[in-house]
Amino acid sequence: MCGIVGIINSDNLKIKAINVLSKLEYRGYDSAGVSFLAKNNIKTITEVGKISQLSKSLTSTGYNAFDSVIGHTRWATHGIVSKNNAHPFSNQKISLVCNGIIENYSELKLKYLKNYKKNIESDTETIFLVLNELSKKIKDHNKLIQKLVSIIKGHYAFLIYFSDTQEIFSLKSGSPLSVGKNADGIYFSSDPSALTEYVNNIYHLQDGDIIKVSVNTISHLNGKKVIFENQAKVVNEFSKGDFKHFMIKEIYEQPHVIKKTQKYYDADYFLDFRNKLKDLTNNLDSFVFVGCGTAYHACLVAKYYFEQFTDIDVSCEYASELRYKNISTKKNSIYVFISQSGETMDTLMALKYVKSKGYTTIVVTNSLESTMVREANITLPTFAMKEIGVASTKAFTCQLLALANLCIEIGNIRKNISKKEYIQLKQDLKNIPTKITKILKNSSYIDKVVSLLSSSKACYFIARNIVFPIALEGSLKLKEISYMHSEGFAGGEMKHGPIALIDKNVLSICLNPKNKLYEKSSSNCEEILARGGKVVVFSSKKSSSKKNLLQIIMPKENYIDTPFIYTIPLQLISYYFALNEGTDIDQPRNLAKSVTVE
Ligand code: G6P
Repeated sequence: MCGIVGIINSDNLKIKAINVLSKLEYRGYDSAGVSFLAKNNIKTITEVGKISQLSKSLTSTGYNAFDSVIGHTRWATHGIVSKNNAHPFSNQKISLVCNGIIENYSELKLKYLKNYKKNIESDTETIFLVLNELSKKIKDHNKLIQKLVSIIKGHYAFLIYFSDTQEIFSLKSGSPLSVGKNADGIYFSSDPSALTEYVNNIYHLQDGDIIKVSVNTISHLNGKKVIFENQAKVVNEFSKGDFKHFMIKEIYEQPHVIKKTQKYYDADYFLDFRNKLKDLTNNLDSFVFVGCGTAYHACLVAKYYFEQFTDIDVSCEYASELRYKNISTKKNSIYVFISQSGETMDTLMALKYVKSKGYTTIVVTNSLESTMVREANITLPTFAMKEIGVASTKAFTCQLLALANLCIEIGNIRKNISKKEYIQLKQDLKNIPTKITKILKNSSYIDKVVSLLSSSKACYFIARNIVFPIALEGSLKLKEISYMHSEGFAGGEMKHGPIALIDKNVLSICLNPKNKLYEKSSSNCEEILARGGKVVVFSSKKSSSKKNLLQIIMPKENYIDTPFIYTIPLQLISYYFALNEGTDIDQPRNLAKSVTVE
């Protein structure tokens, strides 16, 4: 993971570096650092903890003598969280930051650093020291960098500064890196959206690129032309407004972003997309949905949708599993990749793998400038806009909306649903923002649920059919931001093991929409109550009151809007419970928003 920044030949370096790093903090927040750069002069400051910590350390000094800066925010992979392992790694000649993993660093250590006494923990420190060793023999920096690229294996993005020539090299293989230019300098960032207030024109480095900046000239080491693209401005997306956390702001944004996304699908988008789908779905055998974390739960919901409204076979894969599987090339399948960031390493690698086997790939994402958008054959965009809170909320419900629309389009094309059903389903999707607004307004149950969670040692989410993935998502939200032990179970599986976990200190949250499985899920609740467990049930149907049972009445649902309706209260209870626990909600421990390493 990690985020890297470079600001070359510019002013206000301290302010700009901290500003960009704060926007990259979602990529990791274990430690941070910057190197201020000038001719034969490098000054490096690192801190354990967040960017605010680094910012404090920078307040006392001016750094006016410097004209450039490179910086880094870290999510630890190799080596503990410490000042020693924080980037940049530097001396008076070289400074270097890296995002990614160097897989053969142990080999390189043995080969190039045999006589080195210091205990080297991290892969990046190894590369820094190897580069220093190589520089003793290879004086030409172009050749030195080419040599480095030829010996390292892994997925990475680097910025490397040489103080004697004041050259900066940027290398990319797998991890994202973009460069932009304007009259007051050259800017690098792992995420181009962190640069929108400084540059309009951006070049997204390609795998294998080595870009050199020397005296304001940007050139490609292999002679390729660097062609800049115009980048759309992102307005105020990094502000919490009146909200205490990004997560709660993003929860409340859902009616708006869902409405905006649906409007887009109802207008022109599906006219063109439908024609493409018609061609693609001729003789189609199956859809495969692929994702990680919350996005994987969206895949599971898609499977229920497709089974309900189409006759196509559907399967779901964790991207981290799919990328190492043998996949048959005999089937006529479409692979749909779901990703908030569009950069998750496992999902991206799975996409490239599937594409190399000749399959059509669709990406569902709100990050429209991301690598996955550039890689996939087709993009199904959502307009969740930037999501900053590490725990995904609005990106998830917009993914559900995209998948619901995709499903009914396919159902319509294949005549699995009638024209009348199609129109009704579209209307149901249009009504979702109103239903969500209502749920957000009627949240009087939250304090009661928070208090039940506070007196419990674990919380299990139980559901069947289309809300089963929502139980998994509810459980993921709770553990991500409150650190409470939690699992999600399919109701029918309870008696095959999980029910052994139930006692008076455990809270079970049951999602029980009024559908054909209502009675079955009610029996699950009874069985838990009979064993002394506490139950909170979310349902659109009121049942008789019982000891240890808290009922929360939900709006009436249709099949297609059910997952949306049951997601919202779970996001809210996780948020307010975590608030009560005093955890770092937007940046929970050990996590990062965008997982760009394996
Ligand atoms: C991380 C985030 C999750 C997210 C997952 C997949 O683990 O913390 O919220 O669901 O990555 O990310 P993606 O960007 O591919 O949706």
